[in-house]
Amino acid sequence: MKVVTCVAPVNIAVIKYWGKRDEELILPINDSISASLSTDIMCAKTTIMASPLFKENKFWLNGKEQTFDSPRLSNCIKAIRARCDGALPQFTWNISICSENNFPTAAGLASSAAGYACLVYALAQLYEIKGEISDIARLGSGSACRSIYGGWVQWHKGDLPTGADSIATQIAPADHWPEMRIIVLVVNDCRKKYSSTSGMKKTTETSTLIQHRAKNVVDQRIKTITKAILNKDFESFAETTMKDSNQMHAICMDTFPPCVYMNDTSHAIVNLVHSYNEYRKGQKVAYTFDAGPNACIYLLQSEVEQFISVVNYVFPQLAGVEYYRGLSLPNKQLDQKIVAELRLTPYEAGMLKYIIYTKVGAGPQELDHPSEHLLQDNGLLK
Ligand code: DP6
Repeated sequence: MKVVTCVAPVNIAVIKYWGKRDEELILPINDSISASLSTDIMCAKTTIMASPLFKENKFWLNGKEQTFDSPRLSNCIKAIRARCDGALPQFTWNISICSENNFPTAAGLASSAAGYACLVYALAQLYEIKGEISDIARLGSGSACRSIYGGWVQWHKGDLPTGADSIATQIAPADHWPEMRIIVLVVNDCRKKYSSTSGMKKTTETSTLIQHRAKNVVDQRIKTITKAILNKDFESFAETTMKDSNQMHAICMDTFPPCVYMNDTSHAIVNLVHSYNEYRKGQKVAYTFDAGPNACIYLLQSEVEQFISVVNYVFPQLAGVEYYRGLSLPNKQLDQKIVAELRLTPYEAGMLKYIIYTKVGAGPQELDHPSEHLLQDNGLLK
């Protein structure tokens, strides 16, 4: 019997992946860049057990048994096995997989990226594979390839039709910009969203703006933001991040019928960030939105106290929920000068569900201690 347990990070893109040139191989039409977040706060965790005694393959996701033959799961397993030494005994054994997220998937927070990165990383440990695996994680979910590395990561779109050069590389490790923080404002929202997969497919089929983005915009932004990250130039980083999020959502609006992911609360957050930056006379806080209404805020640690005091004033919380999650948030009295100058008025309570405070972190890791395993020795759920 052989067992491995791993964790992998969520990543939040600052230059967005939106649109594929190959649906099957999950090849994007442009490069993208993200930061991998600390696995101490948010992560996917996966245990894989292989045994000659298992009669069949099994897979549980967040406690529910799943079919083993979904195309994306099968593609990842096939691709990993093609890179493995077939002489290893575990190569011929059946496997049990158990995967879970330590944050609610309903929050719509890049759970598939962390999940597939973790699955592929754990399979690579199980089958003792040493080389590149981000191209295999990509087969599970495009953005998952970026979660194979920690810190700041670029997914190169690549040119080959096989996808062999559509891989992720690290731009800078997690400790390169240690002051960087991320606040996720989880927006209360019950509307069912269309997935990123179907949304971006429709965009590629119907939007003309997406061609402009791929041909004339992204390459320059990749250069600008890489330089900003390497030089720790927050102003340039923030401006590029916000513009790119806005462009992704503009392209979603240019899709026919339009894909609307942001809601009124998301737009209220955008307005608040711009007012705040005007008050601070510079780009001190940056928002970015994925395929949902939640805002991911990038900011430096020195800005957190003041910005959170403003968020708390404008978006009062509902009592009785675990509202702050992650790193401990500083508790600062709101500066009344900001309220007066920006003419801030609070919205009704409960527009935000909760707030996660986190930072940039390392990539996937194997957890050795047996207590970490999510499966019993018989391959069934603990
Ligand atoms: C909006 O990776 O979820 O988060 O490749 O179809 O699985 P598939 O899509 P997915 O798309 C994520 C898109 C995004 C932007 C980003 O992370 O770059």
